[in-house]
Amino acid sequence: MIRVSTRPDLRDALANLRKNDAKLGFVPTMGFLHEGHASLIRHARHSCDRVVVSLFVNPKQFGPNEDLERYPRDAERDQELCRREGVDILWMPRTEDVYPPGFRTEIHVQGLSDPLCGQMRPGHFTGVATVVARLLGLVRPDRAYFGQKDFQQWRILAQMVEDLALPVEIVRCPIVREPDGLALSSRNTYLSPEDRARALSLSRALARAMSAYLAGERQTDRLLAMARRHLADLDVEYLELRDLDSLQAVSTLDTHAVLAVAARLGQTRLIDNAILAPDSPDTDLPRLLEGAFL
Ligand code: PAF
Repeated sequence: MIRVSTRPDLRDALANLRKNDAKLGFVPTMGFLHEGHASLIRHARHSCDRVVVSLFVNPKQFGPNEDLERYPRDAERDQELCRREGVDILWMPRTEDVYPPGFRTEIHVQGLSDPLCGQMRPGHFTGVATVVARLLGLVRPDRAYFGQKDFQQWRILAQMVEDLALPVEIVRCPIVREPDGLALSSRNTYLSPEDRARALSLSRALARAMSAYLAGERQTDRLLAMARRHLADLDVEYLELRDLDSLQAVSTLDTHAVLAVAARLGQTRLIDNAILAPDSPDTDLPRLLEGAFL
């Protein structure tokens, strides 16, 4: 594995990798890597010849009162995970490599950036779209991999790539969960043992709605009510069923929809979701959580 920081070093390392028309897979991250990131890397390794991972805590996607300063970091462990997973280039840029002096552009994907997490975190998705466009421009991969846990982020980036005709395929990878159902997130590390236990309500709420959906329930208000019963103890920011493409609210489920939840546990904000569709990777969620108060 080659570790690079500056743009010239990245360019040289990429030129080497691209020899013989190698297909390049790219996994952008903010570090503090876990099994969820490892699974993105494995997906990339599976369908590409070479894999590049970037590790950059992007200041543009944090609001003034968010956790930029205390965002968890462990570069040593991240490098170890990348080496173990067979990453070819680990790119750890400095801020000036990503945003050189004079950088002025912002990318805002209208409509899709406003609801759900966008409502709670104004400017967040503009920061995400801007940095990802910039990283894609510098790495120029054939495919870039994103986790479904941040499904709104994935949807926005897929739209950006489509609208700007960027020559890259955006791949969405399934959520990776702990054995008890908690979706993996770098922010789980903030949780006290009590909040870690309470956080299980998120996946349980989704699993409850999923089993009703699989049993034939298609009324949004009923599905939401079933899920909400599991969230009574939490400070819920939103629990919503949205069309997977438009992210508009849906009242009856006749197309693919996503049930999305965000809640605060102490200082920590967690999100989770399940895609309600017959071919969804989340249909096994109720089985995964069998015995967990469904
Ligand atoms: O999902 C993340 O970790 C970040 O939002 C991303 C895509 C790396 C952009 O900073």
